[in-house]
Amino acid sequence: THVVTEQCVHCKFTECITYCPVACFREGGTFLVIDPEECIDCGNCVEACPADAIYPEDELPPELMPALEWNARLSAGLPLATTRVQPLPDGEKWLGMPGKWASLPA
Ligand code: F3S
Repeated sequence: THVVTEQCVHCKFTECITYCPVACFREGGTFLVIDPEECIDCGNCVEACPADAIYPEDELPPELMPALEWNARLSAGLPLATTRVQPLPDGEKWLGMPGKWASLPA
């Protein structure tokens, strides 16, 4: 599977959705996740993301490994994200900031 990491949090640019040939993105308030049951590993979304937030599972840096569990657990309870939405108003401000996991509810 491919995995959305914390670099998406508070950015949520949603370019990734338009490059996905299946329906694997799920939408949280300030981020997207990828449903590992639906992702076909095409990789199209990786280049599409301005925040460089998406990785193939086997290329996740160690510090971003929590994303694997995060995507699998949350995708089960979040609605499908099938169309682009407006980026969050302060998304650019959060671009590339480390430690964004900490701002999310557990
Ligand atoms: Fe997030 Fe990047 Fe998509 S910021 S919503 S993974 S384009």
